[in-house]
Amino acid sequence: ISLKPYNTFGIDAHAKHFVSVNNLEDLKHILSLKNQPNKLILGGGSNMLLTQDFDGLVIRINLKGIKIISENEDSVKVQANAGENWHEFVLWCINNDFGGIENLSLIPGNVGTAPIQNIGAYGVELKDIFESCEAVELSTQKIKSFYKADCNFGYRNSVFKQEAKGKFIITSVTFKLSKKEHNLSINYGAITSQLEAMQVSKPTIQDVSKAVISIRESKLPNPKEIGNSGSFFKNPVISTAHFNTLLENFKDIPSYPISQEEVKVPAGWLIEKAGFKGKSFGAYGVHKNQALVLVNYGNAKGIDILNLSKLIQKTVMRIFGISIEAEVNIL
Ligand code: EPU
Repeated sequence: ISLKPYNTFGIDAHAKHFVSVNNLEDLKHILSLKNQPNKLILGGGSNMLLTQDFDGLVIRINLKGIKIISENEDSVKVQANAGENWHEFVLWCINNDFGGIENLSLIPGNVGTAPIQNIGAYGVELKDIFESCEAVELSTQKIKSFYKADCNFGYRNSVFKQEAKGKFIITSVTFKLSKKEHNLSINYGAITSQLEAMQVSKPTIQDVSKAVISIRESKLPNPKEIGNSGSFFKNPVISTAHFNTLLENFKDIPSYPISQEEVKVPAGWLIEKAGFKGKSFGAYGVHKNQALVLVNYGNAKGIDILNLSKLIQKTVMRIFGISIEAEVNIL
């Protein structure tokens, strides 16, 4: 079976076996079968690059359902199953006037994979609204709860990329959201200017969501039109000393302070300066509005995109002495 419809990069890699799972009992049953082939767990397929065919079993997590599990005057706990589309879930929250999640509008992918890389945008990360998640352990088929303290969340990182990697499948996620007195995060420059352009002076969570959607639509390619996986690389953290030497040659290099000793530099800027922004190599290339995003114009092979990413890494290293790490999972 072709995995093309199941990965947002739109890579036409094939899997030997494929199953889409709609309930927890079926998932546990499949995991308990003897003589298991290699398995690949698939959520929204929005953070992976397939570089070859998969000679095993692809399990697509299609668990649906959203429910309120508790609430008081100020806040609500909402549980969403792993197969819910992330943005549809965000819109459900916004329509119910549940706040905290609005900055994370229009991120591709599913609810169940959001904690793995602690998705984040415009000053908010999943960890800010995360209460807990449930996951089935592959080896025992037992359900385990992970609370925030168990998850070791960091920038595009969590326990599910570390010790728990490959051992659990997240089946549901519980979020804690505000019901009134929403605490808006609107200090990110692009949001401030978008809200101004929309002429709203007292923004609601609905306004912030709309602002984020416009910003994303203007900068990031829609995977339904052009295959992509969002940011291909993470933004690197470098020493302040290294940054100061770069400043001598690159006066306009942007940065965000991390501590006294370290700063984060936008990889998109480095890649643009390295000359790759908007570059096309036929079937694939670098997006014209955001150099952090690699794109598949139609029939690219995963391996071509992987090779382009390596060329970008080498060039950025040569010019700036900075190593940029892929954010996307390479398979
Ligand atoms: N920049 C350039 N050229 C580019 C792209 C960016 O010079 O081609 C500069 C911009 O001028 C700006 C800075 O880089 O000064 C930051 O750009 P932007 O606000 O677009 O954010 P980013 O750091 O490139 C990160 C996330 C995005 C997220 C945005 C907004 C990572 C790896 N990426 O990008 O996340 O939407 O911030 O918060 O942290 C994703 O993970 O898939 C993703 C899209």
